[in-house]
Amino acid sequence: MAYSSTFTYDLKQIMNKFRLQLTYEIRMNTHPLRELIKDSELMSSIAQSYGTPSYIYEKGQIENNVKRLKNTLATYFEKSHICYAVKANSNPHLLRLMKSAHPELGGDCSSPGEIYAAGLAGIDPKDCIYTGNYESNSDIAMALKKGVYLNLDDETSFDRLLKIGKPKRISFRLNPGFGKGTFSQITTAGENAKFGIPAEKIINAYKKAQDAGIRQFGLQCMAGSGNLDEDYWEELLTAILHHTKKIESSLGINFEFISIGGGLGIPYKDEDTPLNYNRLFAKLSNILYHNYPEKASAPSLWVEPGKSFIGDAGFILTRVTGLKESYKNFVGIDAGMETLMRPALYGAYHRMIKVGEHGENNGSYDFTGPICENTDRIATAREFPKVTEGDLIAILDAGAYGYAMSHNFNTRPRAAEVLLDGDTHQLIRKRETIEDIFFGCNV
Ligand code: LLP
Repeated sequence: MAYSSTFTYDLKQIMNKFRLQLTYEIRMNTHPLRELIKDSELMSSIAQSYGTPSYIYEKGQIENNVKRLKNTLATYFEKSHICYAVKANSNPHLLRLMKSAHPELGGDCSSPGEIYAAGLAGIDPKDCIYTGNYESNSDIAMALKKGVYLNLDDETSFDRLLKIGKPKRISFRLNPGFGKGTFSQITTAGENAKFGIPAEKIINAYKKAQDAGIRQFGLQCMAGSGNLDEDYWEELLTAILHHTKKIESSLGINFEFISIGGGLGIPYKDEDTPLNYNRLFAKLSNILYHNYPEKASAPSLWVEPGKSFIGDAGFILTRVTGLKESYKNFVGIDAGMETLMRPALYGAYHRMIKVGEHGENNGSYDFTGPICENTDRIATAREFPKVTEGDLIAILDAGAYGYAMSHNFNTRPRAAEVLLDGDTHQLIRKRETIEDIFFGCNV
């Protein structure tokens, strides 16, 4: 009896261990940077060289992401164009890398700073689209001067534009009345969205532009970020084309491009299924050419990827600063909400991997940084292996809207950025210093 219960217990232990191991393997298998992050020697040498927290980007993954979209579009569309959404990550080294993977790459810019960043990477302003919203006259003037394709968010922006100058070409942002994003906060169309021109009003905007003598037109729609649902993409393009056809027949114009915006989702969780680009763009191509059967004169399909270019290519290397057993168990790390805003802002989930020997999960922890806000969480109630002070942890999928949304709260300098190519690494942005933060104060 004693023997048999011990045996049962042992078997259970073994099964548990096996199951945990298996879960771990499955989870890790889903991420393209898995092997890299497991390399504790490399991770330690990066942490040693540049300190923590640091944003690390993997060159090959960026190139793959760019080429994958570029090749898929070339397969399914007569004419297409990619404008990388600079807001996702504006480090010029990364933009240059993207441009070398796709020399015709344009930029989707939403501020003078993003136009500037695209310029630093040698991206031709003529290949860029500027999508402002509630932009100032000086923003409009800068975009006009640079010669980017202006995509306006409201008819009144066009009135203001005409007082500054008249471009040869114009585009307006459509709000089709619905949108979809991973979170309500990143759903950028629909009745609650501050973006775009309502479907029933957009024709007036084009009429106004036509009356002003403009003859080249595009139409843009960005309805939400992080979409992994193919059906949604079909629904969105169908709605957009319904409106472009209506505008074209009423005004006798032809759109030179239709941009479906960004929003191509990436898996942030183990259970997320990545988009199948071939299947998705084959469907979208059918929809486009069904509406525009003359392929040669059909509008070019524009896409403005942010997350899908850089999201999974970047991670944060952070160090465990302290462990606290309170009413719940906390793991303190040196990357807080000032380094990665997404969890605190949207409740976003980012996978985390302990560098080196991962081991079995040991309990449930809240991962928090050094910030004086109780919303300072990178993860909540996360099953994780045992860690000790000084251990390194990688926070995955932080390449997009990670560094770009980091800030100086609690007067904390921003992290360093490092580009990794095989096992060679290069600093592509120095860690900020405390003095840098006070640069403009002149004291
Ligand atoms: N084009 C326009 C006009 C946009 O406003 C955006 C993102 C994009 C393209 C790129 O979308 P993506 O491919 O990255 O989904 N901070 C949020 C995402 C907000 C997206 C805002 N606009 C996040 O961290 O999830």
